[in-house]
Amino acid sequence: MAFNYVADERDIPVGEKRVINAANEKILVIHLPDGFYATQAKCPHMSLPLEKGHIVGDGHIRCHFHRAEFDVRTGAVCEWANFPPGIQLLNVIRGEKPLNTYKVKVEDGKVYVDC
Ligand code: FES
Repeated sequence: MAFNYVADERDIPVGEKRVINAANEKILVIHLPDGFYATQAKCPHMSLPLEKGHIVGDGHIRCHFHRAEFDVRTGAVCEWANFPPGIQLLNVIRGEKPLNTYKVKVEDGKVYVDC
């Protein structure tokens, strides 16, 4: 792994997120009030695009599709897929999995992700 340039700091305002291709991977870069964070771009529930999700609470992302919620700082599952009703049957074979997270650094207004 190595730090790869992904964006200029000003390109991703606070509260926003962007999918970046870096080192042959899609990475979701998220700008929270306390800094930048990076996670895998696909939801670990069914590999759907997490970029369609919403930032909620104190640095969580809620997947648009079945509402799994993750802490973007740690990747921890806060809430597993719970929508629509009945999704729990699918969860028997798609159990909880955290998000992969990546180290981020900002230097001279440029954002780098270790991936
Ligand atoms: S794909 Fe994200 S919660 Fe199902």
